[in-house]
Amino acid sequence: MSRILVLGGTGYAGSAIVAEATARGHQVTALSRSLPDAPIPNVTYVQGDATDEAMLSSAIEGSDVVVAALAPRGPLAGTWRDVHRTITRLADAAGVRLYIVGGHSSLRPAPGAERFVADLSNVPAEIHDEIRAGAAFVIEDLPATPATLDWVFVSPALRFGAHVPGERLGRYRLGDDVAVAPEDGGAISAPDYALGLIDLIEKGDHHRVHVNLAH
Ligand SMILES: NC(=O)c1ccc[n+]([C@@H]2O[C@H](COP(=O)([O-])OP(=O)(O)OC[C@H]3O[C@@H](n4cnc5c(N)ncnc54)[C@H](OP(=O)(O)O)[C@@H]3O)[C@@H](O)[C@H]2O)c1
Repeated sequence: MSRILVLGGTGYAGSAIVAEATARGHQVTALSRSLPDAPIPNVTYVQGDATDEAMLSSAIEGSDVVVAALAPRGPLAGTWRDVHRTITRLADAAGVRLYIVGGHSSLRPAPGAERFVADLSNVPAEIHDEIRAGAAFVIEDLPATPATLDWVFVSPALRFGAHVPGERLGRYRLGDDVAVAPEDGGAISAPDYALGLIDLIEKGDHHRVHVNLAH
């Protein structure tokens, strides 16, 4: 059993991760600015703003594992990358393992090929900034963290998110930084993404790497 803190634990990805971790007997704390309408039994819900470093620090210090499931849009548009740099610093200082829910565009279509983020011409301009923030975090910031920080950046397939919820199939495929389904981007539902993420946490066999999950 691990003490798992899920930042953004009431969101689309975060709530599925909280549900999966709790069902598997972990002690789960979900942090967000507001409380959920339908809380999951046995989960500790904490209200706080991830831009508040003192609050973040005390939440992280009481954990074994932190999962960051904060979206780089809405309230964190423009600050997501800075907030995550702070999270890496606090997790490293506390000796806590860090798993980040990432985006699909930071993946590559083939080994050694440029990442999808290099060409966003088919992506609506209004989401370019959030895509670039998430990609820069895994391309530039995470590799530059001290070697003592144990991180895993977990990208989903292209079709992932509240607009394409999908169903629980009870399976997933795990890849490295090359997309598991490069031909059309693939899909993954939140429950199956959570299954893969909690498997990664429980196995603890990936360190300082970028991986991806797809059906
Ligand atoms: N296909 C893709 O590549 C794809 C698609 C979707 C998502 N994603 C990735 O998945 C991750 C999570 O996205 P999501 O769609 O699950 O997000 P979401 O549903 O919008 O959830 C965001 C969560 O963060 C919380 N939050 C927002 N601002 C906060 C703050 N300042 N302090 C504390 N909590 C805050 C929200 O609760 P409150 O508002 O109550 O604070 C909520 O719990 C992101 O990294 C995103 O890039 C990738």
